[in-house]
Amino acid sequence: MSRIVAVSNRVMLPRRGNAPGGLVVGVLAAMKSRGGLWFGWNGEVEDPCTPEPTVHRRDNVTYATLSLSSEESRDYYQGFCNSTLWPLFHYFLDGFRFHDAQYESYLAVNRRFAQHLLPLLRADDVIWVHDYHFLPLARQLRQSGVQLPIGMFLHIPFPHIDSLRVLPVHAELIDSMLDFDLVGFQTQSDLDAFLAAVRVVRGPGSVAGDDGVLVNGRCVRVGVFPIGVDVDLVQQEALLAQRGEPCQRMIRGLIGKRLMIGVDRLDYSKGLVQRFKAYEQFLESHPQARNRVTYIQIAPLSRSDVHAYAAIRSELEQTAGRVNGRLAETDWTPIRYLNRNFPHGTLMGFMRNAPVGLVTPLRDGMNLVAKEFIAAQDPSDPGVLILSTLAGAARELTEALQVNPYDIRGMADAMERAFNMPREERIQRHESMLRALRRNDVAAWHSRFLELLCQPAAATGGCSFDAEASRRASRARRWS
Ligand code: G6P
Repeated sequence: MSRIVAVSNRVMLPRRGNAPGGLVVGVLAAMKSRGGLWFGWNGEVEDPCTPEPTVHRRDNVTYATLSLSSEESRDYYQGFCNSTLWPLFHYFLDGFRFHDAQYESYLAVNRRFAQHLLPLLRADDVIWVHDYHFLPLARQLRQSGVQLPIGMFLHIPFPHIDSLRVLPVHAELIDSMLDFDLVGFQTQSDLDAFLAAVRVVRGPGSVAGDDGVLVNGRCVRVGVFPIGVDVDLVQQEALLAQRGEPCQRMIRGLIGKRLMIGVDRLDYSKGLVQRFKAYEQFLESHPQARNRVTYIQIAPLSRSDVHAYAAIRSELEQTAGRVNGRLAETDWTPIRYLNRNFPHGTLMGFMRNAPVGLVTPLRDGMNLVAKEFIAAQDPSDPGVLILSTLAGAARELTEALQVNPYDIRGMADAMERAFNMPREERIQRHESMLRALRRNDVAAWHSRFLELLCQPAAATGGCSFDAEASRRASRARRWS
């Protein structure tokens, strides 16, 4: 069996204890079950940056990581990755910035990481690259002669071509993505957007059906692989944590109030300001809920050096302060807003104790918190999930109370409905969503992706369309 080499900007080193984000949860699950090498950034910024990867081994996983220099952190990570690609791919064009020097740094970091990965590769490896930090990595590896199968999975949304066009280098990026053998997306609309962009960049004949793109006679397969969770593991974690001191302390702190919980990285894409306002509206239009419910929002700080993140942080502090100032009682704080992280198990325990879970991003690739909230519930008395239609998870969790995250009144009404939903209805909705989670759990996600990546294109029917017609179309384009 091939060895799996996962490459991601964020690597969860074994010594770190905090709850990881969705990408790390997914990659960690794949690596733990299959073993292999996990290569990427160690989260450190130092000058000079590490000349060689630092290698740790834990169980069947080898971690090889590099640090970033302060210039790389500024131009590659905070710059092109998180001030250009992140806002653009999440449709926040107001926050979008483009600077040539940052794009150059992005390419240079991809080149440097590719060079350090080369000596670690073996003849039977399969390389699985994750997320927007490494869109040109396959191109860099191919230019160094690597012929191994290389796949890419995009954890975040892929934008429609009419938005993507604002990026001056969009054609170059799309082209370099076509050096992968397999490109995977969270939802069908992300895949459709990618194929539409490929049609524009490489001509309509390069794409037919939705399983492949033909590039100079080579087939690049594409597909939808919605990331899932390990349902049994989440259930066990939640049950265990419930008896632990952090959960007991949280329950004591509620002094009998009913809990509504949100757990998100502090990011403007998560819709937290709108959520706070919706809660305020809920308390205003349903005064009987005051002093009976408590909303805990856990929002660990993220990308704090990027201006847009500092701005949203201060807006949230003001909004939470205003709501609490207006509505709090001497024995009740409506919103408990915590900028800190907790171990994953503890979070699952918190969720199990929450009659209502709020996952209302303004745009999200998938959002594993939504899936974890469902998996963590007690099936005989489950909580209700309020879920944004703009999260990828909404495609599968159709029995959640789905809301438009910009519709403050709609979200306030959903809160009222969630707190008052009869037990029978809660059980039915939860059962149906749990079945969806089990049908498509994290093991299904990595197995489907890796099986396809390991098979030759001909065996899978990828690029099953008329290759000759596509070549003719591309010749015609060159002469037109
Ligand atoms: C999202 C992205 C990941 C990223 C994570 C945490 O889930 O899809 O690629 O690792 O956020 O962000 P950070 O910048 O801290 O790695």
